[in-house]
Amino acid sequence: MTAKRSVVLGCGSYLPQKVLTNAELAARIDTSDEWIVQRTGIRQRHIAAEGEFTSHLAINAARAALEHAGLDAQAIDLIVLATSTPDHTFPATAVAVQNELGIHHGAAFDLQAVCSGFVFALATADNFLRSGAYKRALVIGAETFSRILDWNDRGTCVLFGDGAGAVVLEAQDQPGLPSDRGVLTTHLRSDGRHKAKLYVDGGPSTTQTVGHLRMEGREVFKHAVGMITDVIVDAFDATGATADSIDWFIPHQANKRIIDASAHKLHIAPQKVVLTVDLHGNTSAASIPLALAVAVKDGRVKKGDLVLFEAMGGGFTWGSALVRW
Ligand SMILES: CC(C)(COP(=O)(O)OP(=O)(O)OC[C@H]1O[C@@H](n2cnc3c(N)ncnc32)[C@H](O)[C@@H]1OP(=O)(O)O)[C@@H](O)C(=O)NCCC(=O)NCCS
Repeated sequence: MTAKRSVVLGCGSYLPQKVLTNAELAARIDTSDEWIVQRTGIRQRHIAAEGEFTSHLAINAARAALEHAGLDAQAIDLIVLATSTPDHTFPATAVAVQNELGIHHGAAFDLQAVCSGFVFALATADNFLRSGAYKRALVIGAETFSRILDWNDRGTCVLFGDGAGAVVLEAQDQPGLPSDRGVLTTHLRSDGRHKAKLYVDGGPSTTQTVGHLRMEGREVFKHAVGMITDVIVDAFDATGATADSIDWFIPHQANKRIIDASAHKLHIAPQKVVLTVDLHGNTSAASIPLALAVAVKDGRVKKGDLVLFEAMGGGFTWGSALVRW
């Protein structure tokens, strides 16, 4: 019995040129490199240039992913772009990407699940591909969080950065075994009771302004590890995979302490954890594909490897995905 799977053909990423170090932040606000590194593991983040929009980051990441896949843009018939920092209220940033790539067929839309956006977008595209509705998808996470930060709020502005990452998926018939390549399982969750713990205090329907990110950091921290590990256990239960059988753990890069605690609780060996939070900060929906692109490029993630993704973010939203590379 065969199964249709969304197989990853390639991935790519893009970071804005400007790097903002902890030392530079400490020169502007009451913080220190030591405090930031100790609490979060973050050493620097990239910041989009004036006039450089989320769509620009996304297009660069998409082009890199297409090149890695060896695919012409015309082969793509679905674009799902996860972002909380779109170029405009509407239309979707995904259509700007679609147009720039010269694609005028299929569908392109944005998806908003904050830091869980990439996992939600991957699950969405996977379902469309497995249903037969589309053949090849670009799944993109792209953010310019620097535009929604209150740069006087030291509790939040030190945490986030800008960037984009993308993967190309193709619907393929696989044997229907645990050894199949592609997306093997996805698990998405949300609970709006927590919406005031991490939110943006503006929007088109409320203030008619963009607003700034607000967060109860301790509250987010308190819930994060439990939510992350629950949804990973769901992925293990659905597939029979275990902490031992996965090759790589590529979590949302929000905070090294959250990542370490989650890996520890699940007994995932530290050498399997891909960490880029030190260099990128929290790039929200972009963080997983950015980390993935690093681990693919440096040769860690190889064909046949079992890769576990996990994310948690505002809403709260959280989710996991297990993918055989
Ligand atoms: C944000 C976070 C690093 C703060 O660490 P914390 O240990 O919880 O710190 P608190 O917020 O309790 O603040 C402790 C002290 O540090 C201070 N502080 C906050 N930010 C600071 C900074 N950048 N530099 C120096 N001091 C800072 C606070 O003002 C507070 O000072 P006080 O005790 O004099 O009032 C931590 O809560 C966290 O990582 N939360 C999860 C955030 C996250 O990952 N969000 C995204 C999810 S997708």
